[in-house]
Amino acid sequence: MVTVVVGMQWGDEGKGKIIDTLAEDHDIVARYQGGANAGHTVVYNNKKFIFHLVPSGLLHKNVTGVLGNGVVIDPESFFQELTDLENQGVNFAGRLLIAENAHLTLHYHKILDQIEDKKRGDKKLGTTGRGIGTTYADKYGRVGVRVSDFLNEEMFIKKLHIALELKNYLLQQYYKENVIKADHLASQYSKYRNKLKELASDVSIYLNNALDCGKRVLAEGAQGTFLDIDFGTYPFVTASNPISGGVCTGLGISPKRIGKIIGVAKAYTTRVGMGPFPTEIKDELNEKLRTIGNEFGATTGRPRRCGWFDSIIVQYASRLNGIDELIITKLDVLSGLKTIKIGVKYFYNGSEIYAYPLDTSVFENVEVQYEEMEGWNEDISGASKFSELPDKAKKYIERIEELVKAKITAISVGSSREQIIKR
Ligand code: GDP
Ligand code: IMO
Ligand code: MG
Repeated sequence: MVTVVVGMQWGDEGKGKIIDTLAEDHDIVARYQGGANAGHTVVYNNKKFIFHLVPSGLLHKNVTGVLGNGVVIDPESFFQELTDLENQGVNFAGRLLIAENAHLTLHYHKILDQIEDKKRGDKKLGTTGRGIGTTYADKYGRVGVRVSDFLNEEMFIKKLHIALELKNYLLQQYYKENVIKADHLASQYSKYRNKLKELASDVSIYLNNALDCGKRVLAEGAQGTFLDIDFGTYPFVTASNPISGGVCTGLGISPKRIGKIIGVAKAYTTRVGMGPFPTEIKDELNEKLRTIGNEFGATTGRPRRCGWFDSIIVQYASRLNGIDELIITKLDVLSGLKTIKIGVKYFYNGSEIYAYPLDTSVFENVEVQYEEMEGWNEDISGASKFSELPDKAKKYIERIEELVKAKITAISVGSSREQIIKR
């Protein structure tokens, strides 16, 4: 059976921690979309591990990690990540697979991503600069380079020449930058060929066989529902489908294989990069939450924008993803606030709108109606049962449950593995 873990907001909901917690009861953890733009943090034994492309469940020694065809793989970043994690004591031998039909993020994708976003000026998206949008654009433009192309050197050089023809014209004529030489690039990447060859396979066959044998697969979403290319706050989105619907196309498995979908939402909201964020807090509390919650990007280190929990978007995400369960993270960060607000309704031009609007020009201008709840002062980071939470914290959780119409099955109260309350 496949269990999906999906972010319900704008990413950084704490998916990494939840994946690590759930991985104990799974055999395989598979990433189905995104790339090295992801930064998933796991804290174990007081050590912090940050996963970008490597699936977050791999601290569990019996788990195999899979990068599906929907993921865009930057070999440079991937092998650096493996080295960094190995230096922290993680051994991957025989536990990693990469889809041979996954697309590669190459040097020029990163350069162009950064140049393009800079060129947008005050309309920039604030991408992570990891070459994500440019790699997916090449994939859909049919000029991408897949893992299997890369494994065949001649084919790789041929594909590079095709991909670089227009890019070099743009680089030189439009962006006034240096051109990129295909042969030079090919020789720079050749050091990764044998290492990638060892990991590449038909992941769809692998997963389907494993599922036939009763193995338990955890599909790890990166980013979040409102960064989804189709349903997010376009154009302030990433270039893939983080929603649960992306699992089948990103791993090569049938929808019938999915048995459970778990949404992960923070007890408040954060967003990194540009784009509308109706419940963003505009006073000093924004910075206070950032400090207490340590809200700095796990990939870029950028400060995250902070705001109140928005029940309208999470309710939308709950239905869009078809979640069976909701896990709330970082409840501990709200301790000590006198009042806590929840966004409960949107108004646009004076009238209530009853759902998250897909039209970004509307979303940018909604007015939020809040409900205020009393906060609690107790430190809850040591709580291990729901009954140990202060009444006001319980009420907050129960109210979220009502508003988003989803069953909250676990509450995270700290970054380490054991700081979780199962209900
Ligand atoms: P992801 O991208 O969804 O995996 O989330 P990130 O790892 O980018 O960001 C979540 C941050 O919150 C990380 O620093 C985690 O270690 C931390 N974290 C996760 N759960 C909790 C929690 O319940 N409480 C606190 N205080 N921190 C948490
Ligand atoms: P995880 O998996 C938060 C944001 C970027 C930018 C937009 C587009 O850690 O939750 P991109 O580089 O993807 O083209 O940038 O998406 N973004 C994320 N924000 N968490 C992430 O991943 C993100 N990955 C991309 O900040 O606004
Ligand atoms: Mg993150």
